Amino acid sequence: MSVLTSLTLPLLRSLNPETAHDLALDALTLGLSVPLKRPEDDPALATRVLGMRFSNPIGIAAGFDKNARALRPLARIGFGFVEAGTVTPRPQPGNPRPRLFRLEEDRAVINRMGFNNQGIDRFAVRLARLSRPLPSGRGGGAGVPVGANIGINKTGADPERDYPALVARVKPYVQYIVLNVSSPNTPGLRGLQDAARLRGILDAIADRHPERPPILVKLAPDLENDAIAPIVEAVVEGGAQGLIISNTTLERPPSLRSPYRDEAGGLSGRPLAPRARAMLGIVAEVAAGRLALVACGGIETGLDILERIRMGADLVQVYTAFAYEGPALVARLKREMLDVMRREGVESLDDIRGTGTRGKSL
Ligand SMILES: Cc1cc2nc3c(=O)[nH]c(=O)nc-3n(C[C@H](O)[C@H](O)[C@H](O)COP(=O)(O)O)c2cc1C
Repeated sequence: MSVLTSLTLPLLRSLNPETAHDLALDALTLGLSVPLKRPEDDPALATRVLGMRFSNPIGIAAGFDKNARALRPLARIGFGFVEAGTVTPRPQPGNPRPRLFRLEEDRAVINRMGFNNQGIDRFAVRLARLSRPLPSGRGGGAGVPVGANIGINKTGADPERDYPALVARVKPYVQYIVLNVSSPNTPGLRGLQDAARLRGILDAIADRHPERPPILVKLAPDLENDAIAPIVEAVVEGGAQGLIISNTTLERPPSLRSPYRDEAGGLSGRPLAPRARAMLGIVAEVAAGRLALVACGGIETGLDILERIRMGADLVQVYTAFAYEGPALVARLKREMLDVMRREGVESLDDIRGTGTRGKSL
């Protein structure tokens, strides 16, 4: 851990969580605690999926950099891919504060941010700048796939119009696009996961954008198990390339100890892991290799990552563990993955993908 990180983490912890998040993002954007050169990844961590090479399978999940301000520094601290958003067509302030809660005892977070973001115009300008290499040739973002996570406004939304319009704005600049239909904090959004509705949105995108980067759909962990297979089929038939499993949960496991456990919003971090794992197992079985799968939810160790890859994930994403641990997390996860792989004689992630059994259902 850098001196800066060890000094700033306790300070950030003492602030209210949203101020701490904003400061952490400002610090990253300014290049504080960011190495000048991206660390080289061990070739054993490389993987090919969605027609691209990822030098490691660990991405920053959506919501950390909603306005695409810090993608280059995030790439430089070692993430294998970076996702910006969720961005909506028009800027919006999100829900009233407080709307972000740290459940320290549970290593979890509850948020009801409500898609606070500066809107697609500013987002697209930042992405356009990012796609130009840095004049110094350092090119922190070069070679690190960038994704745009898109959503709809709280008011005046028309999903069949808005998602294709957002695809038009981001597609020149990104390597993949995520349809967020699973945030619990935008009324009605999760209803778009209905198989027929989702298919309509995917068809509208396909009609307007025969040429486009791969599309992934991000799902909620609160879907009934029986609803999952029809959704997977709609995603395949609608021409999308992958799924992210999963977003935050509205469930409150009885194990939660923090005084904030009854705050409204989506729960993320350690208590989300069992359901995110179980859902990945179901999706992997139904998808049977037809979709790229990105596992997300409560990932904290290299072993967690290898377990999800064994269950069929191609890539993983982290948010809450990064909020607790800061940039040092990324190097630790890679080190832990490599330690286990060496111990078990695993030479590449392809060797273990899909070899494990599915997780136990909750
Ligand atoms: C404060 C906060 C804001 C988030 N905002 C978004 C968002 O805008 N879009 C999205 O798709 N997911 C969002 N997420 C969900 C994360 O991307 C991720 O799916 C979830 O937190 C589970 O991963 P984790 O347990 O590693 O945090 C947010 C999560 C948190 C904690």
